[in-house]
Amino acid sequence: MSVETRVPATIDRGRIKQLTEQQMDLLAQRTQRSKELYDRAVRVMPGGVPSSFQENDPWPVYLERGEGAKVWDVDGTEYVDFHNGFGVMCIGHANGAVGAAVKARHDEGTHFAAPTDGSVYVAEELADRFGLPQWRFTNSGTESTMDAVHLARGATGRDVILKIEGSYHGHHDAVMVSVYPPLDALGERDDPASVPYGEGYPRALTELTRAVPFNDADALASVLAKLDGQVAGLIMEPAMMNINIIPPREGYLERVRELTSEHGVILVFDEVKTGATIGRGGATRRFGVTPDIVTLAKAICGGYPGGAVGMSNEVAELVTSGKVHQYGTFNGNPLVMAAARAALGEVLTDDAYAQLEATNQKLMAACDEIIERYGLPCYTQGLGAKGCVVFSPEPLYEYRDYLTKVDGELSTLAWLFHMNHGVFMTPGVEEEWTLSVAHSEADVQRYLDAFEAFARDVTA
Ligand SMILES: Cc1ncc(COP(=O)(O)O)c(C=O)c1O
Repeated sequence: MSVETRVPATIDRGRIKQLTEQQMDLLAQRTQRSKELYDRAVRVMPGGVPSSFQENDPWPVYLERGEGAKVWDVDGTEYVDFHNGFGVMCIGHANGAVGAAVKARHDEGTHFAAPTDGSVYVAEELADRFGLPQWRFTNSGTESTMDAVHLARGATGRDVILKIEGSYHGHHDAVMVSVYPPLDALGERDDPASVPYGEGYPRALTELTRAVPFNDADALASVLAKLDGQVAGLIMEPAMMNINIIPPREGYLERVRELTSEHGVILVFDEVKTGATIGRGGATRRFGVTPDIVTLAKAICGGYPGGAVGMSNEVAELVTSGKVHQYGTFNGNPLVMAAARAALGEVLTDDAYAQLEATNQKLMAACDEIIERYGLPCYTQGLGAKGCVVFSPEPLYEYRDYLTKVDGELSTLAWLFHMNHGVFMTPGVEEEWTLSVAHSEADVQRYLDAFEAFARDVTA
């Protein structure tokens, strides 16, 4: 995904342009086998990729394999992986514990569409981690947030969904609204427009989703007052992670919890990104605010495609009674549950979270030192296994800051330097790195060397 940001120039634009061209040429030269695959792929897949998020200039880098903290592309180049499958592979690639669990499960049958003990174990583990008593399984983050929207509407008999401006929650109709709206389509901050993210969504559905700014409880209070009795649910990432990382301001989540309760609105924390990466109980435990529903996917299933929806007993009653339907042939698939059980039970332990946090803090501190030394207009932000350099001279608190303060050209150039210096990173301006338990000091140093090369050249 990519969104155009508009920010004042602080570093010589000519130099950024020249370096970007150089680094882009270098990337193209050294990824010729990727180009060959891409040329074949575009004949059979739109954009040459299975999901549009994998698109990239000049073409996507096709990977061959991964082990621990490393991945290798089809040209044989080794990278330390900071992309980590869009924040999934906290366990490290080809993790032995997860591999053994999946192999053992394979030999006993991989799919029945009947419950197995794996789903019971994982539901118990998630209940313990997040403090929500009831769980159902899905196959992706998109399905988890879709179920959450159904549950919020079913619980309240209301139609309107509130979401945070500039947040991504998957690609179903109710949430493909105001994801990355352009500056000229935003509308007033206290009454943002509902902007569809692409085409294919009925206008009537788009209108049922309303955006509010992140980190502003007063704005939420006034929207809830205006739409009193109409709002079914508020879906939000407790810490925004799709426009770099924006943590919640002190007291914001507590106030959101109070306001949604006062107005009878179901509060959904979308923890697809944060859930298994920023602590044992995700943002819910880390910030100490419990929503009515938590949506999970990505890192919880150890690299297998699965998701989960956690809910209060009251919300769960809707499913139990059959009032809201929650279905899926592959929900709780034994192979995925075996992977989740091993990932959560054996790999992502309390010690692992402490280690991820410590490695992340070291990486951010060393980036801060480089930023300081070269006088770069940026800062670091991070939680748990996740972190990023935000290419803005001042802190971001919400999407409108992101649009007006982040230097997209500088971010893109940093990405190119990383890729050309053996650091595999997410394409685009808005993502962050994800560490795995396999990341060593030497791996972190590779990131720092790449970042320093970028800092030196761009300020030379
Ligand atoms: C916060 C959030 N919610 C939901 C999703 C959708 O998850 P999936 O891609 O598994 O459908 C994503 C994907 O990036 C996400 O970042």
